Amino acid sequence: MSFSSFSSCASCFLQNHQGVGGGRYSRRTSRQSRPSSSSSRRQRRVLFLRVCAAQRTSGNDDDLDEDEDATKTKQQHQRNEKKPKKNIAVFISGGGSNMRAVHAACETGEIHGQISLVVTSSYNAGGVEWAMDRDVPVLLYPGGKDLEESERISPSELNEFLKNEYKIDVVLLAGYLRLIPPELCRTFENKMLNIHPALLPAFGGRGMHGAKVHEAVVNSGARFTGPTVHFVNENFDEGKIVAQRIIRIDPSWTAEEVARRVLKEEHEVFPEVVAALCDDRIEFRETDGVGVIIDKMDSNKRY
Ligand code: GRF
Repeated sequence: MSFSSFSSCASCFLQNHQGVGGGRYSRRTSRQSRPSSSSSRRQRRVLFLRVCAAQRTSGNDDDLDEDEDATKTKQQHQRNEKKPKKNIAVFISGGGSNMRAVHAACETGEIHGQISLVVTSSYNAGGVEWAMDRDVPVLLYPGGKDLEESERISPSELNEFLKNEYKIDVVLLAGYLRLIPPELCRTFENKMLNIHPALLPAFGGRGMHGAKVHEAVVNSGARFTGPTVHFVNENFDEGKIVAQRIIRIDPSWTAEEVARRVLKEEHEVFPEVVAALCDDRIEFRETDGVGVIIDKMDSNKRY
């Protein structure tokens, strides 16, 4: 996807955004108070991208358990039906496979939410095209060196867009490689999750991302690895942990093999935690604020 094709889409979005065209953006605009002062200048500065046309029996005990599980899941869905779906913003810098896993779980109803906005640090992130194909608005933040200073949005504009324009409830960092502005961390305290491809607090921190993480794990001789889902604070990979999955490492595995297996686990654990957050099923341990999930099948169980 080239820069020029995004630019033409951006102008299309702005038309709708200013109420000239139809569609969801104009409706949004009419419902919400628009930024009044220097609004046209700001709108020019906010570079949104959007796609121009959206394409697109009973029996043994096991059966009894399954029936019971199905009933409990149905009950959770019924409770959720009474509540509005949570608006989710996903921040990406790469392929966006975790974003797609979250989207799939939204589609099946496992997550009572919808991806309402994608924020990307790069035009070239694979997930951008995926989002545009589904008519999900995409916001570039903070933008690369090729972006004019006047086209950039500031951290407070980003915060305002998420909070007021898109009414975002939950923020997900799914392979986003830039530091999140502190004010966003404050606005979305305990509402912003990151997925990291190793067992934190080891193998995390600034610069520890992608292949580097798995190489460090393999080179260390560690025998276990797995993804960590944690809340986001102002420091890389330091927020409170909510969930982890464990994989035993075979000493013959390469970093690529480890990466492949960890990613597969990520696609299960991330939607599971997002579902809990959207259902308000995460509690915070009184002593230190660690996030604890309330089991969806049994509200007396915590993990
Ligand atoms: C994942 O490994 C995640 O743990 C890390 O970045 C990677 C993103 O992958 N934070 P994808 O873009 O979701 O495929």
